[in-house]
Amino acid sequence: VAVLTEERWQPCICPRCGTRWRRKGSRARRSPLPPGEATKGWAGLDRAVEWLLDQRVERRDLVVALGGGVIGDLAGFAAAILRRGVGFVQIPTTLLAQVDSAVGGKTGINTAHGKNLIGAFHQPAWCSPTRRCSTRCRRATCCAGYGEVVKYGLLGDAAFFAWLEANGPALAAGDPRRGHAVRRSCEMKAGIVARDETETGERALLNLGHTFGHALEAATGYSDRLLHGEGVAIGCALALRPLRPARPLPAGGAGRVRAHLAADGHARRPVDIPGDLPDADGLLALMAQDKKVQDGMLTFILTRDIGEAFVTRDVPASALHALLAEALAAR
Ligand SMILES: NC(=O)c1ccc[n+]([C@@H]2O[C@H](COP(=O)([O-])OP(=O)(O)OC[C@H]3O[C@@H](n4cnc5c(N)ncnc54)[C@H](O)[C@@H]3O)[C@@H](O)[C@H]2O)c1
Ligand SMILES: [Zn+2]
Repeated sequence: VAVLTEERWQPCICPRCGTRWRRKGSRARRSPLPPGEATKGWAGLDRAVEWLLDQRVERRDLVVALGGGVIGDLAGFAAAILRRGVGFVQIPTTLLAQVDSAVGGKTGINTAHGKNLIGAFHQPAWCSPTRRCSTRCRRATCCAGYGEVVKYGLLGDAAFFAWLEANGPALAAGDPRRGHAVRRSCEMKAGIVARDETETGERALLNLGHTFGHALEAATGYSDRLLHGEGVAIGCALALRPLRPARPLPAGGAGRVRAHLAADGHARRPVDIPGDLPDADGLLALMAQDKKVQDGMLTFILTRDIGEAFVTRDVPASALHALLAEALAAR
């Protein structure tokens, strides 16, 4: 987290001739935060907010979130609540943050009860992704975010999914085609957010894969056993299963998605998560904490086919239980 402060008019004196004038400028101060999902909690927020107050941040200053989705969500939320809202800027450095978390204005932190349960809508003044991700830890800075990229193809653009099938492996290797994937993902997200900023309807589609994914993240203690984007990839593959018998999926869709994730070596099934997981009842209990619960009913984003996602609350508990039990039994 950094803060960019507009320097008030500074008096300057020429050391040679003594001429006086005034100059306006800006300066930045920074506060590194520990890496990892655990930083995105009450303690991390306390630390960020108190540091920003120590810096005497004013409303016209800018909080800069330089990092992945953890830093973007945390710094954005700190900016949202500081002095009832100061401006902030996103400089996303991971693929996930570039295609998803830095766009759209959702900010927040996790609590012991679940992910992103405390937060605010706070749009960044601007968002400027770094040109390429680090070559260090490709899994965390690049591969995991691929789950969110695939999500955009699945939820609304079959042609983009087909493009990913052809070009996906090159993206992980830092190929320039990655720019197209980031641009198309951001276009899709920005279009949906512009039509429904506060998620009263269409924006819910962006949660494709997340109800399952968040439950798996909670089950693994938000540890590096499962990164957010990996949970989303597994969740997307599960969301293609025929949960509603009234709308059977075309045979090819689910297989294509699983084959694509497998071909690129991405996690796609709960069995790909190392270590123990709760049983189907345990995962259902974790899902009940989801933000999308209304009147005690879960909202699901499912897909009729690649590129055709829809929102439904009409998923029988028995079908859900059977789906989870089957997915977990494969272990
Ligand atoms: N606000 C939203 O709309 C939204 C959407 C999707 C995900 N998210 C959130 O985003 C978070 C996940 O984001 P993430 O996948 O970017 O994880 P992350 O922020 O934890 O970053 C992954 C790892 O990469 C490291 N890293 C980041 N940039 C680096 C660089 N340039 N060089 C070397 N290392 C670097 C980080 O220190 C961290 O260890 C989750 O908390 C998720 O809930 C939010
Ligand atoms: Zn996500």
